[in-house]
Amino acid sequence: MNKHLGWLLSVLTLLIGPGMTAFVYAEPAALATCISCHGKSGQSVNPQWPNLGGQHETYIAIQLRAFRSGERQNAVMNGIASGLTDADIVELSAWFSSQSHVTAANGKAELVEQGRNRAGYCHACHGMQGQPVADEWPVLAGQNASYIAKQLAAFKSGARYHPLMANVVRDLDRPAMMALGAYYSQVPNYD
Ligand code: HEC
Ligand code: HEC
Repeated sequence: MNKHLGWLLSVLTLLIGPGMTAFVYAEPAALATCISCHGKSGQSVNPQWPNLGGQHETYIAIQLRAFRSGERQNAVMNGIASGLTDADIVELSAWFSSQSHVTAANGKAELVEQGRNRAGYCHACHGMQGQPVADEWPVLAGQNASYIAKQLAAFKSGARYHPLMANVVRDLDRPAMMALGAYYSQVPNYD
């Protein structure tokens, strides 16, 4: 029995071993550049910065290319993305999207209900639970509250541009942005 078990284990190790090793060592070479701010698993050290863990893979890649081309402006990220190759972008997007989601829940608790009441407008694209169907569109569930509010303000001022979001933010004032941030940050983010 033991002999058979030993044999089975060696076959399993042969079959699974190389795959497991590849998985364990599949850290992108450029990941070291991101860790100080976004963490290895995509949980950012500062609530003003976005969590990347579990974010849609295609969305991450689109944003990294937009930072690299300067289409999306951010002094820090423009500099960092300018050093990334296409292969780095593919690897980093796959890495962060495959990490566990985070539910930040770091907005003002008293604003959550207000945000929920306003979020009806967002469901069509970002999903009923902040999880859009399209891989090109961002998951909002569990994202940092102040980061969400900051991006809404950037879409409104035109500092960040996307045709679909430009219309959405037209009627949002600062308190509404904070409320939406508070609401989405506490929406449970399931894997
Ligand atoms: C010095 C800190 C810092 C480092 C290092 C850094 N980032 Fe960022 N990152 C930021 C900040 C700040 C933002 C938010 C920019 C904004 O407000 O538009 C951001 C935004 C992003 C976004 C957009 C997320 C979204 O939801 O739209 C992605 C993707 C991203 N970073 C990926 C990376 C990757 C990949 C690396 C490593 C190659 C990296 N970042 C390194 C600070 C950093
Ligand atoms: C018609 C579709 C549509 C609607 C409605 C919509 N969004 Fe978006 N949203 C998008 C798309 C597409 C993007 C990605 C923009 C890009 O690529 O830069 C986005 C991006 C965002 C981002 C940036 C996320 C990040 O990680 O940087 C936030 C925050 C956001 N939307 C919040 C909202 C909120 C809150 C509402 C409702 C008030 C809303 N959106 C309604 C399509 C939509």
